[in-house]
Amino acid sequence: MNLSTKKESTKYADLGLVNTREMFKKAMAGGYAIPAYNFNNMEQLQAIIIACTESKSPVILQVSSGARKYANQTLLKFMAMGAVQMMKEMGGTVPIALHLDHGDTFELCKSCIDSGFSSVMIDGSHHAFADNIALTRKVVEYAHSRDVTVEAELGVLAGVEDDVSAEVSHYTKPEEVEEFVGQTGVDSLAISIGTSHGAYKFKLKPGEEVPALRFDILAEIERKIPGFPIVLHGASSVVPEYVEIINRNGGKLDNAVGVPEDQLRRAAKSAVCKINIDSDGRLAITATIRKVFTESPGEFDPRKYLGPAREELIKMIKHKNLNVVGSANKL
Ligand code: G3H
Ligand code: 13P
Ligand code: ZN
Repeated sequence: MNLSTKKESTKYADLGLVNTREMFKKAMAGGYAIPAYNFNNMEQLQAIIIACTESKSPVILQVSSGARKYANQTLLKFMAMGAVQMMKEMGGTVPIALHLDHGDTFELCKSCIDSGFSSVMIDGSHHAFADNIALTRKVVEYAHSRDVTVEAELGVLAGVEDDVSAEVSHYTKPEEVEEFVGQTGVDSLAISIGTSHGAYKFKLKPGEEVPALRFDILAEIERKIPGFPIVLHGASSVVPEYVEIINRNGGKLDNAVGVPEDQLRRAAKSAVCKINIDSDGRLAITATIRKVFTESPGEFDPRKYLGPAREELIKMIKHKNLNVVGSANKL
């Protein structure tokens, strides 16, 4: 096994990881989606692995370029390998993919592939259509030569995507998807149908309801590329209970609102095979830590607040797997 940290590359299979091909095939046939949870640290990774092993759910571990810088790329590789080992020691048989979230250059995707990622996203959604195709195709050629799967994006989500931020969303144009998929050879496609990143997904006037996702656009896309795996970014529900705990304990998250769970459940039953959740995990952790600090101001052992935060995250992920994405008990 080559686990070299520098020049030679690491094969994801040597870390015990799988790519997303088989997962998506089963999810498409089974009417559910694979959850993709972002992580930046040990407690988040432990929570994802424990929750997915106990709820018997396949999982995609998702790392943004910011997370990669934060955690250190070499440490990340060994964390992923340790996660697979931990899952096995728990008696699990969970397929685990390690995925680059919102890769913005060929070089970043290549670097992740070379360091053991089993899946990458090349997000060329902010480029012109032809440039997005050219960039995506270049990543696909390199990735497929190593049996790594690739996600691309068409259409723009409002909110912050790492260093790129968009004020408004531009829905995916169904008339473009067939050519894009055909020309790039990509394995899955992230689309824009009304979700957005972060904790402030919709600007609502008083009394106004959260607008429905554009299921009409999704249906049109499914007609153009039948059976092709679709990805939903920005799919946190911005769990109101967490927002409330945060605000009650010194936080300030005014008008934070997300995608209602029933809409995500509906999406998961369609060609949507991957649902991305980051913000809800951040909220679960922050709410728990704020509560501990309020209730026990003398506490200064990180295990005493990170431990309960990890427990809450486990609870949240199990709930999502079972009731939102529908991936529980699908091994
Ligand atoms: O879509 C973005 C993800 O939530 C990652 O966020 O760039 O702050 O790590 P980040
Ligand atoms: P949320 O901010 O809704 O959790 O979206 C996360 C995401 O799309 C990561 O790529
Ligand atoms: Zn995203």
